[in-house]
Amino acid sequence: MVRIASALGLVMFSVALLILSLISYVSIKKDFLFGSSSRYPNGGPRMYMFHAGFRSQLALKYLDPAFTPLTSTLTEKVQSNATKWTYNSTAFTQQREDISRYIDIPHNFSLTRGAVRVGQLMHYDYSSHKYVYSVGANFRSLLPEASPILHKHYNVCAVVGNSGVLTGSKCGAQIDEKFDYVFRCNFAPTEVFRRDVGRRTNMTTFNPSILEKYYNNLLTVQDRNNFFLSLKRLDGAILWIPAFFFHTSATVTRTLVDFFVEHQGQLKVQLAWPGNIMQYVNSYWKTKQLSPKRLSTGILMYTLASSMCDQIHLYGFWPFGWDPNTGKELPYHYYDKKGTKFTTKWQEAHQLPAEFKLLYKMHTKGLLKLNLSHCA
Ligand SMILES: *[C@@H]1O[C@H](CO)[C@@H](O)[C@H](O)[C@H]1NC(C)=O
Ligand SMILES: *[C@@H]1O[C@H](CO)[C@@H](O)[C@H](O)[C@H]1NC(C)=O
Ligand SMILES: *[C@@H]1O[C@H](CO)[C@@H](O)[C@H](O)[C@H]1NC(C)=O
Ligand SMILES: *[C@@H]1O[C@H](CO)[C@@H](O)[C@H](O)[C@H]1NC(C)=O
Ligand SMILES: *[C@@H]1O[C@H](CO)[C@@H](O)[C@H](O)[C@H]1NC(C)=O
Repeated sequence: MVRIASALGLVMFSVALLILSLISYVSIKKDFLFGSSSRYPNGGPRMYMFHAGFRSQLALKYLDPAFTPLTSTLTEKVQSNATKWTYNSTAFTQQREDISRYIDIPHNFSLTRGAVRVGQLMHYDYSSHKYVYSVGANFRSLLPEASPILHKHYNVCAVVGNSGVLTGSKCGAQIDEKFDYVFRCNFAPTEVFRRDVGRRTNMTTFNPSILEKYYNNLLTVQDRNNFFLSLKRLDGAILWIPAFFFHTSATVTRTLVDFFVEHQGQLKVQLAWPGNIMQYVNSYWKTKQLSPKRLSTGILMYTLASSMCDQIHLYGFWPFGWDPNTGKELPYHYYDKKGTKFTTKWQEAHQLPAEFKLLYKMHTKGLLKLNLSHCA
């Protein structure tokens, strides 16, 4: 009995020691990171930074030990170097050619009516081969005759990710005005957040599960009206619907297909339905040592954009729980409900820190421009 008690005591003591040493390690790190308190004269945000930093540094260390030095210098580098950033068109063109060796983006952007038969069984990129989706006449009727991006070319494009870093950025006007084409991810809301994220959308992805999450599976008249109005705002834009990534999409995909067939002629949004393209996209990024279980929608959009645009600027790409401008805590998405805590749930499946590290490297090479700061 006594031996058990003392062994237990020893274990508890070691755990306490471990926690204490972690706390001091992190606070030293944070002081180093943000320098003296001159930027925060009242000292208030430092507490914030400590808490936010504690969690994110811990997460970073856990997920990717090599990443800590990068985030430590990133604030200065990306921010103070912003004006010095230069685009390297040679490198970008080279990259576009490299990508085209793995995937024919203009043609693989969407399935087309001519290439798909009624009764054909589709499989899913991320699900077991046993799951199938039988193509019906309704689904087929919604496919474009030809890829909507064939021969489409734009000069400077923005890809807008959904990171909480956009909250308070006031980058909306810039995103709306400075670009020839704006990509967005997962049908993210823009109206309410337009000051920070802008409202212009030329293309957005739409994972069918959004119907379940935000439109109650279109079960009521109200849900259907809401969805109709959201689509109406996208008149002329492309809705890119990855229906064949997960078999769990099958039921909502049928609901979605029925809805579009019912409203054919009333909506001007252009539909695009990619087939099983992820193995090709993955094989390109694997050559850059990026091979997560699932690539993020953001880097997938960047991949598509690289064949359509001559220059790409990224906003809202920052997968960490603290703001690189202020050190304050951040939610994961800019549209998360106030008080939503950052979690590393998404980071793990997508390996977002590794992805961010690569995007940052591409930024320094002039392949893309990452914008993390607040806009004037
Ligand atoms: C642009 O990229 C090319 C190919 O990667 C490289 O050889 C060249 O040095 C770069 N130019 C500048 C100015 O960095
Ligand atoms: C991708 O494009 C190629 C070339 O046009 C075509 O043969 C192939 O079927 C396409 N695959 C998918 C999944 O769209
Ligand atoms: C992009 O979208 C805006 C409205 O959101 C539209 O005015 C503009 O013409 C679109 N550009 C292209 C190239 O489709
Ligand atoms: C700007 O960034 C480059 C690497 O991208 C770095 O070598 C250089 O020191 C930076 N300059 C400043 C003033 O931070
Ligand atoms: C982001 O864009 C704004 C406005 O053009 C600019 O002031 C800022 O320096 C940019 N930041 C970066 C990191 O490129």
